[in-house]
Amino acid sequence: MCGIVGYIGKRKAYPVLIKGLHRLEYRGYDSAGVALINGQGQLNVYKAKGKVAELEAFAADKDTDGTIGIAHTRWATHGEPNTVNAHPHYSESERLAIIHNGIIENYAVLKAGLQAEGYTFKSDTDTEVLVQLIEYTQVNRQVELKTAVQLALQQVIGAYAIAVLDKEHPDTLIAARKGSPLVIGVGQNEYFLASDATPIVEYTDQVIYVEDEEIVVLNLSSAGNQHSGVEITTINNVQKTPEIKRLELSLSQLEKGGYTHFMLKEIFEQPRTLADSMRGRVNLRQDNIALSGFIDNKDRFLSAKRIIITACGTSWHAGLIAMYAIEEFAQIPVEVEYSSEFRYRKPVINRDDVVIAISQSGETADTLAAIQLAKQHGAFIFSVCNVVGASIPRLSDSGCYTHVGPEIGVASTKAFTAQVAALTMLALCIGREKGTITQELYLRVVRELGQVPGKMERVLGQNKRIADFAKTFTYAQNFIYLGRGYNYPVALEGALKLKEISYIHAEGYPAAEMKHGPIALVSQEMPVVVIAPKCGTYEKVVSNIQEIKARKGKVIAIVTEGDQLVSRLADYTIEVPQTEECLSPLLTVVPLQLLAYHIAVVKGCDVDQPRNLAKSVTVE
Ligand code: AGP
Repeated sequence: MCGIVGYIGKRKAYPVLIKGLHRLEYRGYDSAGVALINGQGQLNVYKAKGKVAELEAFAADKDTDGTIGIAHTRWATHGEPNTVNAHPHYSESERLAIIHNGIIENYAVLKAGLQAEGYTFKSDTDTEVLVQLIEYTQVNRQVELKTAVQLALQQVIGAYAIAVLDKEHPDTLIAARKGSPLVIGVGQNEYFLASDATPIVEYTDQVIYVEDEEIVVLNLSSAGNQHSGVEITTINNVQKTPEIKRLELSLSQLEKGGYTHFMLKEIFEQPRTLADSMRGRVNLRQDNIALSGFIDNKDRFLSAKRIIITACGTSWHAGLIAMYAIEEFAQIPVEVEYSSEFRYRKPVINRDDVVIAISQSGETADTLAAIQLAKQHGAFIFSVCNVVGASIPRLSDSGCYTHVGPEIGVASTKAFTAQVAALTMLALCIGREKGTITQELYLRVVRELGQVPGKMERVLGQNKRIADFAKTFTYAQNFIYLGRGYNYPVALEGALKLKEISYIHAEGYPAAEMKHGPIALVSQEMPVVVIAPKCGTYEKVVSNIQEIKARKGKVIAIVTEGDQLVSRLADYTIEVPQTEECLSPLLTVVPLQLLAYHIAVVKGCDVDQPRNLAKSVTVE
């Protein structure tokens, strides 16, 4: 997700835009840019790779005059993070400039059509295609800018929040949205637009929330009387009455989307971010999965004698889940390695090995070193990463981005569920290509993948209940988390979440391991979290719960909706919807994320920036 800001009014636009970009940097920060129309009618565009501060340094000695402008901070989806791909994008004649937050699914088709008309492109982005389409429409249909935007957006499939400048109309700023957020700020003879209200709140509390498929024309020349400077129509030219609301939230609350912490916001973003990680990859109409990183390198996966997964922390837990899925569906032996161990233990690595590196940040030093070692031995490197253009994907032969947007909370949540989805999709692709998964199971899992975001919403609906009973556990000094099969790694992940944000010691174990020592720990003072969905070895897990209850242990169970058996045994239960066993981690992890979060909040811990931790461990 990217951040967009626009301004038209009486002030110098540049400072308003730059401060607005800083407010939106939590949405993405791999490159940034600004477009301004100065007093001489020149349209100046300045762009820089990196954070907003890089843009400020670049523009320091440039002409930043003008009382109208647009600005953008990018989280790359199409095209590497660099200056050329940064927004704003000029149209070919350099008469127009555009900024965009979203994904245009059919940009390749639109681009080919424009190239056939002689248009050329400087960047790899879908956004440049849109501004060229708008100019092509404006010129060839001889229409004004608003109509050109309307006609162009009627051809677009995808999500967008855009703002467009036309240097021949410096008194007009045009914006539109579908699927990506867009807020208009209404001041005294000045207007603001942004992805959310954080760049606006210090200037006005009068806002208009733009709805899907609406186009907004902000025009100073007619701004004299009551807000006539704001005209809203649909992309089908239906006139809408602007509805002005009063902004209630503080700036700090706004950056977190109204949530108390980024971590809670990111936990609640998961249904959308999971859907984003599957967009364009899981095709429910054709019951098919298409992962370009696999398609382009099928032979390496089909000839692999072994797959080595290397990662750290939460990403390592995602790798453990991937081991179950790849061995079940693709029948390729998998080893899951802590990167820090793998890089130093002189491992045997063969040329026909496939090494999968998993990393949210793409900068974890141990994982980077691990794939450098693997590369030296000739292995094929496939990375699952969330940051386009980060060091790990750049060093990899291929990969798959998770596209969940910036994950600000140090404790990884939305990146983890997207990693699990991406790795499950990879396992399904390999298995289907090898013929080692039945068509029936493949179709069942593909169709269920499409249902998981909705099922996640139902789990999130229990947040208040989890918050209520979390309070009873803040006394605990120790927790044990238990799971079996696909949910053993979830037990590890739940324990890590609790440890890293509440500072309570917690351990994850395969549930059957209890008998081999840990059951000696069971007491009324040590809560035991058991992940017991109705799949796989459910009956065995029930026995493990009975063993714990027999020793007066206190059990918090994650169960399948409607479970009567475990619900009678456990002291607390949290229900998750039924799903395929291989997809159950996507649902069973959510209550554990919420449990850790609420315990940490009651304990007064710094949830988003826990002590001693960093979001990306770029040192050994
Ligand atoms: C997860 O909640 C932790 N913040 C940490 O274990 C993290 O997963 C680990 O440092 C790996 O980071 P990466 O995914 O960016 O490589």
